[in-house]
Amino acid sequence: MEKKFKRTTVTAALPYANGPVHIGHLAGVYVPADIYVRYLRLKKQDVVFIGGSDEHGVPVTIRARKEGITTQEVVDRYHNLIKESFERFDISFDVYSRTTSQTHHQLASDFFRKLYDEGKFIEQTSEQFYDEQTGRFLTDRNIRGECPRCHAPEAYGDQCEKCGATLSPEELINPYNAETGNPLVKKATKHWYLPLDKDQEWLERWILEEHKEWRPNVYGQCKSWLDSGLKPRAVTRDLDWGIPVPVEGAEGKVLYVWFDAPIGYISNTKELCEKNPERGSWETWWKDPETRLVHFIGKDNIVFHCIVFPAMLKAHGEYILPDNVPSNEFLNLEGDKISTSRNHAVWLNEYLDELPGRQDELRYVLTANAPETKDNDFTWKDFQARCNNELVAIYGNFVNRALQLTQKYYDGIVPARGELTAYDEQTLAEFKDVKEKLEGLLDHFKFREAQKEAMNLARIGNKYIADCEPWKEIKTNPERVKTIINISLQLTANLAIAFEPFLPFSSKKLRKMLNMESFDWDELGSTDLLETGKQLAKPSLLFEKIEDETIQFQLDKLEAIKKANEEANYKAKPVKEVIRFDDFEKLDIRVGTVLECERVPKMKKLLKFKIDDGLNSRTIVSGIAAYYEPEELVGKQVLFIANLAPREFKNGLVSEGMILSAENFDGNISVTTVTRPVKGGSQVS
Ligand code: MF3
Ligand code: ZN
Repeated sequence: MEKKFKRTTVTAALPYANGPVHIGHLAGVYVPADIYVRYLRLKKQDVVFIGGSDEHGVPVTIRARKEGITTQEVVDRYHNLIKESFERFDISFDVYSRTTSQTHHQLASDFFRKLYDEGKFIEQTSEQFYDEQTGRFLTDRNIRGECPRCHAPEAYGDQCEKCGATLSPEELINPYNAETGNPLVKKATKHWYLPLDKDQEWLERWILEEHKEWRPNVYGQCKSWLDSGLKPRAVTRDLDWGIPVPVEGAEGKVLYVWFDAPIGYISNTKELCEKNPERGSWETWWKDPETRLVHFIGKDNIVFHCIVFPAMLKAHGEYILPDNVPSNEFLNLEGDKISTSRNHAVWLNEYLDELPGRQDELRYVLTANAPETKDNDFTWKDFQARCNNELVAIYGNFVNRALQLTQKYYDGIVPARGELTAYDEQTLAEFKDVKEKLEGLLDHFKFREAQKEAMNLARIGNKYIADCEPWKEIKTNPERVKTIINISLQLTANLAIAFEPFLPFSSKKLRKMLNMESFDWDELGSTDLLETGKQLAKPSLLFEKIEDETIQFQLDKLEAIKKANEEANYKAKPVKEVIRFDDFEKLDIRVGTVLECERVPKMKKLLKFKIDDGLNSRTIVSGIAAYYEPEELVGKQVLFIANLAPREFKNGLVSEGMILSAENFDGNISVTTVTRPVKGGSQVS
C-alpha cells in the first residue's frame, strides 16, 4: 500500500469557532493526527498537516445572539483562542487558517459554481419552518418543541436530549423558535441538493469493497448509511451568515456549513502553498493520484467525510478521494458526556493555564485512554495515576537513574561497554524490534497500542537497571557498571526517539540532556546511539508528580459548574389556578410530633411515621426514604394534612394523612416544620 504514494495530506477536523477546544476534541482528533504526522515526518515522508477553524454554521450565530455581539466577533474570539491553544499544545499544523478567509470564500464559491454549471445539483422547493416575527427560516437545531416519544418539553428539531431519539422538526409537537419562543409556520423556499442517491453504487464499491481496512466503527457506520439508501441532501441554507450561494436569485441563501467546511481543508492548503512556495503546488496535495489523503475526525463527522465530501470531490472531478478516515469514538469526562453548553469539559486553554508545562502528561493520558474502538472515560484520578505510576515511576524514573548514575560515576561521560552478559544480550534483544513494532501499529492508526509499546521500552530499561543494581556493583565490580550504564544510556536515547511522536516536549528535553542534536527514526533499536566518551548535559527530572491538590482543584471546579448549572436550569413551577378561601379551609393542616420513624421492608422509598396528632397517634407513610435517615426525624414537629382520605399501599400499610415537604430545585426533599415548638395537633391556617 505504502509504495503507491509519494506524499500524504493529513487533515484534522476543523473545530467550530463557537467555543474553545476540549479534551474530547484532542483525544478524538488532534492528538492522534499530530502523532501520525510527527511519525511521518520522522520517517522523512512528504506530508502536510492541515487545520483551521470552521466559522460558519448556525452555532456561531446562536452564540453571538446569546452574548449580544456580532457573529464576526464570536469567530474572531474563538478562532484566535483555539489557534493559540493548539500552538501552546504544539499540535504541529503546517497551516491553521479559517473558513472566513478570502481564499476560502473564493474556492468554496467556485467549487459550488462548477457543480452548479455542470448540472450536478437538483433544485427543489420545499416547505420549511419560518418565524414570521423575525422573518427567518429556522434550522433543525434552532427549532424546539415537545418530543413525540418521551414528551420532554424542549426537544431539538434534530434530536431529543432527554430520550436520545433522532428527530426531524416535523415530528415535534408545537414547534417553536428556540431563541425567541415564537410559534412557527411553514413557508416555501428553494434549495440546491446533492443527489447522493446517484452516488450509491460507486460509494458502495469504493467503501464496502475497496476499503475494508477502514476501522470497524467507520466502516460499520458507512455500511449502515449505505444500507438504508442515500437520499439527496440540501447543500444550501436560508441564513445570513456564510458563503453566499453564487447563483442569481439566491439572495439570503448561503452554502450549507457542511458543504463549505471540508473545502476549507483545500483552501487552507492553498494558503499554505502560496505563502511557502517550497511546499509545491496546492493542487499536488489534492489532485495528484500519488498523494494519499487521510482525514482525522470524530465519529459525528463520519458520514460527511466518508460519503458527502467524497461525493462532492467526485462530482467536481479533479480531486483525489481519502485513502483512510481514522475516526475515534467519544471521550466522556468523569462518567458524563462532555458538553459545551453545560460547560462540562476540560478546556485546553484552561488546562494549559492551570497545569503549565504539563502538555505531555495530557497527551500521554489521552492516547493511553484514546477512544479508538469504543467510548472512553477521562477521570482526573486516572490522569493522576497514569502520570505518577507510568510517566514518573517508569519512564521518568528510568531515565533519571541512568542519567544521575552517569553523572555520579563518570562526570556525565558515556562509559565504554565491556563484554555483555547473557542478561544484557537478552535485554538488547527485547528492544531491537521496537521500530518494526511501532511502525506496524502507527501505520494502522493504532496509537494507543503504539504508545504502550514505547512505554514498554521504558519498562525494560527500568527492570534492567533495577535487576543489575549498578549502585551495588560499583563497589565490587566497577568495570561491569560501565556496561550497565552504557546499555541504560542507549536505551534512554532510544526512548527519546520512540516517544518523539507521542510526547514531543519531553523527547526534546531528553535529547537536550543527552546532547543528541540530530537523531533519526531509522536508528530506533540501535545500541550505538550515544558514542563512548560523549559528554552529556546536566540532568533534571523528565516528569514530576501530579499532587492531590491539583486533582482536587479540577474535581471541585467540575462540581461547582454542575451545581451552578442545576441552579441556572431551575425554573419555579407556575402557580396553580386561583382557589377561593373556603376551598382552602377544607384542608385541615396540622402540626404533628414525630414519635417514631422507620423504614418499610421491601418498599425502598418509604418511611413510616407514628405522629402525635393531639388526639391519637396516627400512621403516615411518606416517600422520602432517599432523603432522610429515620432517626433524624424523630422528635421533629412536622406539618401534615389531617383530613386526607386514608390511602392503602400494596403491602396493606395504610397512610392516614400526608406530611408536607418542599422540593428543592435539585430534587432534594426537605420536610416542613414550625419555627417555635407548639402542641401536637395545632392547626395551621
Ligand atoms: N466543525 C465540525 C465539527 O466540529 C467539523 C468540520 S470538519 C470539516 O464537528 F470537514 F468540515 F472541515
Ligand atoms: Zn424524547
